[in-house]
Amino acid sequence: MYDVLTLREDFPVLSDVIYLDNAATTQTPKPAVSAMLDYFYKYAANHGRGAHRLARETTDHYEDAREIVAAFFNMGVENTIFTKNATESINIVSRGFPWKKGDHVIVTLVEHHSNLLPWMRLRDMGIDVSVVTPDIQGVVDPDDILSSINENTKLIAVNHVSNVFGSIQDIEQIIGIAKEHDVKILIDGSQSAGNMFIDINFLDPDFFVCPGHKGLLGPQGTGVLYIKEPETIEPVFLGGGMVSSVTSDDFRMEPSPAKFEAGTPNIPGVIGLGRAVEYVSEIGVDQIEKHELSLAKETATRLGEMDGVDVYGPEDRAAVVSFNVVGMNAHDVAMILDQTRSICVRSGYHCAMPGIGHLGVNGTVRASFGLYNTEEEVETLVRTVSDITSLV
Ligand SMILES: Cc1ncc(COP(=O)(O)O)c(C=O)c1O
Repeated sequence: MYDVLTLREDFPVLSDVIYLDNAATTQTPKPAVSAMLDYFYKYAANHGRGAHRLARETTDHYEDAREIVAAFFNMGVENTIFTKNATESINIVSRGFPWKKGDHVIVTLVEHHSNLLPWMRLRDMGIDVSVVTPDIQGVVDPDDILSSINENTKLIAVNHVSNVFGSIQDIEQIIGIAKEHDVKILIDGSQSAGNMFIDINFLDPDFFVCPGHKGLLGPQGTGVLYIKEPETIEPVFLGGGMVSSVTSDDFRMEPSPAKFEAGTPNIPGVIGLGRAVEYVSEIGVDQIEKHELSLAKETATRLGEMDGVDVYGPEDRAAVVSFNVVGMNAHDVAMILDQTRSICVRSGYHCAMPGIGHLGVNGTVRASFGLYNTEEEVETLVRTVSDITSLV
């Protein structure tokens, strides 16, 4: 049985606010915070660099976290790279990919800037970038991706779930199209990892990225990068921890994942992430998904029925509800929600200006749900938005 009231005890801040900004970042549960405290208080040292007991213990815990995350997504440990966020994960691929002038990349208009700018910048290197337009609900038609493929296409980068619309892309079909045409595919799972069941071995993308600090409930400053064929990607960062031998003339890199993790990583963060992912697994992603989707659906339906409220995105949505109170600025609405009922939502462009532009507005209010939100919180949100509409 999904016991939301009991699990809320693991997130003390929830007694002060109604936290509906989970698409930006989530709260971290007590067991994950305790794991980080244990690191600081009991065994803090650097990773992979020492023979002494603290260094060994640190390395063990860090590598345990890698095994937990790899098992969670059903992907190889050697393909599981820790980064500081999804943005860094995407940039590692966009910078390290073996491009040739004239190569072609396909992205979509509903990407977060993190999955748009790293590809757009490649235009400076003579790479063509096509941007596929979704429908007005933020859903990308896989056929539009198919028809954008040409003989130079090397990579498709697409979100699994849009952080603006809450739309869910048909990644199975898009991955299938990429394979049929021998094109690499990167899936941005920032809004789906931990919120929806994802089996990387089954989906079989070439790259998968997600933050550790959203649906996985890890701390900020953590991210995950899956690379199917790590030997094909050049690391962006060089330095300590990623080489097996160095002379004054040459160096030899370690295999993945060490190859991509130069320098001292976010050790406490990764250890916290490992524990957080265990926490998510213990509750069960299917249960979490069911709970979050029902809150989002209820919110979208009730806001959609209200005069003076525009709701965006498809009916069949993930746990993200974007809306506007007609005649009001999104930031003003967010401010009133916070100041009158301690409701924390995001407002503005959500780091997705082209996606917001596609809607023809200059921002939205976004309520996004997490495993710990309740129906009472939805009720308070809906009632408060209704009160706000009477101010216009
Ligand atoms: C779809 C999507 N992609 C990428 C990102 C960037 O994530 P991070 O801030 O961890 O780099 C976000 C963050 O909101 C997102 O929603």
